[in-house]
Amino acid sequence: MAKYDFGQDFFWGTSAASFQIEGAWNEDGKGESIWDRFCHIPGKVDNGDTGDVACDHYHRYPEDIAIMKQLGIQVQRLSISWPRIYPDGKGRINPKGIEFYQKVVDTMLENGIEPFVVLYHWDLPQKLSDLGGWLNPEIVNWFADFSRTVFRALKGKVKYWGTVLEPHVICYGGYNSYDTAPGIKDFSSALLAGHNLLKAHGRAVQIFREENPGGEIGLITCLPMTYPVTDSPEDLAAAERNDKHYRAWFLDPIFKGSYPADLWKWYEDHGVVLPEVTEEDLKLISEPIDFLGTNYYSADFVKAGSGSWPLMLDQVKPDVEVFTDMGWNVYPKGFYDTLMRTKRDYDPKMVITENGAAFYDVVNRDGRIADDSRIEYLYRHLKEVYRAKQDGARIMGYMVWSIMDNFEWSHGYSKRFGLVHIDYKTLKRTIKDSGYWYSNVIKNNGFED
Ligand code: GCO
Repeated sequence: MAKYDFGQDFFWGTSAASFQIEGAWNEDGKGESIWDRFCHIPGKVDNGDTGDVACDHYHRYPEDIAIMKQLGIQVQRLSISWPRIYPDGKGRINPKGIEFYQKVVDTMLENGIEPFVVLYHWDLPQKLSDLGGWLNPEIVNWFADFSRTVFRALKGKVKYWGTVLEPHVICYGGYNSYDTAPGIKDFSSALLAGHNLLKAHGRAVQIFREENPGGEIGLITCLPMTYPVTDSPEDLAAAERNDKHYRAWFLDPIFKGSYPADLWKWYEDHGVVLPEVTEEDLKLISEPIDFLGTNYYSADFVKAGSGSWPLMLDQVKPDVEVFTDMGWNVYPKGFYDTLMRTKRDYDPKMVITENGAAFYDVVNRDGRIADDSRIEYLYRHLKEVYRAKQDGARIMGYMVWSIMDNFEWSHGYSKRFGLVHIDYKTLKRTIKDSGYWYSNVIKNNGFED
């Protein structure tokens, strides 16, 4: 038995997302997504990279699934491109889009891999964005139709379902900063988008119960842990605000049926226009879910200040040894702390849906990719997952971001997170040392020191 043994019920997986790997952006009747539009605007994405070809997973999925099988991956997370299914976002369904995901899911199952299907990983149909996207309350119905169609198409084949992924990126990123699509900058809009997104999530859960496609459903959030840089009351309060901004703002409505009152008041006092929220909305949003997907990469260190209106705090660069190629601090203890905080506040069943790191990968003359830093990152973080599990966090499984290098949003292909290397010129796949290492972890259901 391995020293860190994760127990018999634990599962091991990897994650990816439609836009980041599929390519085939305008093939077989697919409509345009907000990310297609965004990438094609010069200056938005590093090096002018686009998702037009990406890893060409759309055509090469059999090869990719064969690699997953070779590594022993038990669960693979994929997302559904909404505009592949509904080219106009609503109305007309594109049968080729449905066929594609049915083929992918069937191929996974034939190879002994359980699919984990996320309905929304950021590639909103452009036609819906033209109608206001997440700012238009009608999106609850558009998303409902899309969800129902996917549940029906993949009924009986999927063990884990996710509604929306990382509400904070969709809302704060897409509607309050310029570096993610659709690229609007207005904090009040971000909160409105968030409220509509939560409603859409709740409605999709209701439809899931109606359609009964099998499996379990949850949503996925990214929960960095926030630390104050001093223990002054101001810095402690700033850390609390930052944490609530990521965690409680989305999870309180879901698990408790209300927004966090203190942060709500803070926003009001700082001139934010808050969304109108009815009892009925909160009832819909708090529709019970089966598990919470949690992503973790790094920690936030903050002090009270004048930055990040309306949060009024400044991020501080911590004194840690390693930063990833994204510039993110490596702080494994934050993983333990965030899992335990989620347990403390909500105690849901959890799946680690993403954890991983971008590092600069060198391909050796013999073709080998000796990515020791990534192995070190995964090892140190998995130890914290183990510790949280020992301390009672109800963690069902762990998934690495990502199975393969892919389109890292506004960074294009310049950042590599994969266990499998992609040569973007030839599209050749090469398993990195981290891939072999992870494969062994799976085989042993854990690892030694
Ligand atoms: C996210 C997304 C992924 C990213 C990954 C690395 O968490 O932001 O789910 O699409 O690629 O996290 O940034």
